[in-house]
Amino acid sequence: MLPSEEIKEKLDLVEFLKGYVELRPAGRNYKGLCPFHNEKTPSFIVSPERQIWRCFGCGEGGDIFRFLMRYENLEFYEALGVLAEKAGIDIKRGASADQRQFNTLYEINNAAKDLYRDKLKTSKLAIDYLKGRKLEDKTVSEFEVGFAPQGFDAVTIELINQGYRMEDVVRAGLTVKTEKGRYLDRFRNRIMFPIHNHFGKVVGFSGRIMPGGDSEMAKYINSPETPIFNKSRVLYGFWRSKKAIRQERKTLLVEGQMDFLMLWQRGIENVIATSGTSLTQDHLKSLGRVTNNLVLAFDSDEAGLMAAERVIDMGGARDFNVLVMGLGKYKDPAEAAESDPQFLKEAIAGAKPAMEHYFDYYLKEEALKTAANKKEVIRKVLEKIANLSSGVERVHWLRELSYRVSIPEAELLTETEMLALETEPEEYIAQDNQEKRKLSRSELIAERILHILSNRDDLSECVTSYEQYIPETYLQIYKAIINKQELTGEAMEIMNLVSLYPDYDEALRVGDIRREELEALLGELEYEHLNTIKERLRREILIAERRGELEAVNEKLKEFDDTMHRMQDIRHAKEN
Ligand code: UTP
Ligand code: MN
Repeated sequence: MLPSEEIKEKLDLVEFLKGYVELRPAGRNYKGLCPFHNEKTPSFIVSPERQIWRCFGCGEGGDIFRFLMRYENLEFYEALGVLAEKAGIDIKRGASADQRQFNTLYEINNAAKDLYRDKLKTSKLAIDYLKGRKLEDKTVSEFEVGFAPQGFDAVTIELINQGYRMEDVVRAGLTVKTEKGRYLDRFRNRIMFPIHNHFGKVVGFSGRIMPGGDSEMAKYINSPETPIFNKSRVLYGFWRSKKAIRQERKTLLVEGQMDFLMLWQRGIENVIATSGTSLTQDHLKSLGRVTNNLVLAFDSDEAGLMAAERVIDMGGARDFNVLVMGLGKYKDPAEAAESDPQFLKEAIAGAKPAMEHYFDYYLKEEALKTAANKKEVIRKVLEKIANLSSGVERVHWLRELSYRVSIPEAELLTETEMLALETEPEEYIAQDNQEKRKLSRSELIAERILHILSNRDDLSECVTSYEQYIPETYLQIYKAIINKQELTGEAMEIMNLVSLYPDYDEALRVGDIRREELEALLGELEYEHLNTIKERLRREILIAERRGELEAVNEKLKEFDDTMHRMQDIRHAKEN
């Protein structure tokens, strides 16, 4: 048996999910609030019989692996590791070559971490350096900080002596092979900060150069990406700070390990850092499971400001509530924590909403003096407002902007529409929607249609004239169902999930109620299709108008009218 199947037999999905979602019995199934989107009425359904879950709000669904992968943002093999441990199954035994490789990488990183910690104990220089930076012993041992000795290959040799193979040590990123074929320690004469994944396993390192070290070298170097270390996913310190972040309902985001550790030491434990990379969508996803409130505490230099702007825009588009805190005269949070913890606490409490930060930053009196300048900065701020995913917030900040710059809201709105036509949607938003694989309205309707057909194949003739509106994947399933073909692969998975829709009363299996419902759904499907056309036309008309292409405008206006009429007809048919 595959380890994944063995795990599924040992772990009960409902019991497992209860650790994440509050579930209540609902007939043969369980129900709860979906952790993957915001909702107030439960649409997250779990079937104990089939050991699958499904959210009818956002369309997510799958088995125990899929849940953990989505919830903790893990790859399959990572979820396998976590669940195997939980199920008490030793995956090394029956593991594939791939899994053995992952385990070796974890083991080597862990062994290196132990070595670096040992080395720290015997290096007076390193100990003194950490003392000078005011890092306490307790913090050092809690976060397993160590020291990579000077020299060429001390750590490599020790790892080889422990029985690891050279190619694995190189793969783990601890050793580099020079052009001359020599093996060298990647980290030399550096303070070593292990980077733990969100379950507390060491997956890589960030090494800070010791004072007086080679000034040609980067101040910090990080482990390269490996199969277990994905910089754009792991957040430094998150394995320890998750709990405090949940409790405080917000997190501080800082730029570096030292910032993180100094804040932690001051009792500010709801903190995370990115390491050696800027914040990514994947980081936000992991974080979003725990909190949507983000306080930025970036360095007060130009780089810090630019990094903050990126995070604000990404966060705003994901409906994060982003605040920005000022650091006063301090260059970074670590320095503030060291010199004036009281100031730091007040600064956190006084953090400003990101939009206010933009207002203060862009709309300085100087910038509003000339018309040309004014237009430019207002456009900049409008772009930021337009990027917010919450309509309520957009309205709020537009009003605020109108007040600040003394321009009527209507004028600002016109300006925003112009902006929307000029700029393509941000790449990261587009990318993300794809990734989420959230079901579109048409797809949700198609699922309900398939559900009816799977119980009532006598109704399939109603669908014939609507086939063109069914999304591709579902159309194929529909054809397979009416041709009584065996479903396989993705189609089978989809139908498995579709079968979780509420069961019908036996009495309703026959008669015309199903037919009426089906016809209404088919109408909805066509309506959705027309709606997409209508929105496309709207955009095209605006563009044609701006270009002065009157003929095109008229043609498209007529199409627009026809589409609108057809849509109204469908609505009327539904009401009568
Ligand atoms: P900073 O240069 O602000 O470092 O870079 P710091 O945290 O203030 O460090 P100290 O106080 O001088 O020791 C912030 C973060 O950016 C990454 C590191 O993760 C660092 O903590 N970084 C910086 C690199 O990855 N490489 C570099 O060369 C510099
Ligand atoms: Mn810094």
